Amino acid sequence: SRIPDLPSDTVAADKHKIVLGFSQLGSESDWRNANTRSIQEAAKEAGIELLFDNAEQSQEKQIEAIRRFIERKVDVIAFAPVIETGWEDILTEARQAGIPVILSDRAVQISDPSLYVTFIGADFYEEGRKAGKYLLDKKRNDPGPVVIAELQGTEGSSPSIERGRGFRDVIRERADMTIAYSAPADFTVAKGAEVMRGFLRESGGGIDVLFAHNDDMALGAIEAIEEFGLKPGEDIVIISVDGTRKAFEMMAEGKINCVVECNPLLGPILMQAVREIYEGRTLPKRIVPPESVFTEVLAEKEVANRQY
Ligand code: AHR
Repeated sequence: SRIPDLPSDTVAADKHKIVLGFSQLGSESDWRNANTRSIQEAAKEAGIELLFDNAEQSQEKQIEAIRRFIERKVDVIAFAPVIETGWEDILTEARQAGIPVILSDRAVQISDPSLYVTFIGADFYEEGRKAGKYLLDKKRNDPGPVVIAELQGTEGSSPSIERGRGFRDVIRERADMTIAYSAPADFTVAKGAEVMRGFLRESGGGIDVLFAHNDDMALGAIEAIEEFGLKPGEDIVIISVDGTRKAFEMMAEGKINCVVECNPLLGPILMQAVREIYEGRTLPKRIVPPESVFTEVLAEKEVANRQY
């Protein structure tokens, strides 16, 4: 016999639209803006209602946003934590409200990892190692010493901590390689230029290598190096992380030597995870997107393929 049509309000109740509260940490870099676009587009595509908040690099604002999501009783909360520490209390509030939490892009340091369901994002330690390996290879016939300057990202953030650690663990192999200059430059072009100007002044231009924790800071540093009368990519080897189109253009011009890719296009993976959590499925604790390393040799060919 024919199944009777359901009353329309029953159909609507069955078709509950999943609500995701997402706290983005800021808009400091081209990578970040690509990450935001990817999340917004993927939510639309997946039919997930996205409540989006930009915390402008403030942990306090992120905590406030997450608290608002809890009050709104969203189905799932995801956030990209600006720094690693200080999340226990707000994650406990989310758990008490029965709302599952996903970490997107960056990691947190917490004593109870069950406070989040899964962490979707790059392996920053491995990115630092890849940068170090490139440098060892690039300088394999250079007797040294090799003076390195490092532009760190946001102080206390997981990409900055882990990229720095991975890089050091690899270059340690060569005792004549020293990181003589290292300071945070907040992952921005302007700060990258400012901090690099300081390094160049202090060293009198005696820097062989720059390791920038992201492309935006590398672009700022290139400005500073040129102002100082040196040739980026020749007088100073430049290694950067992210893989933005602008960095590829610089690499094609020979001003950046190597870019370690960090994939910002996390939106589709995130939406799939949100749906699976909502449906009660179990997810792996760690999800890492695929990533590559690019050097000058491939830059020109690859530039047109960059999606961000
Ligand atoms: O957390 C990822 C990092 O944050 C990217 O490398 C950087 O560009 C961004 O600001």
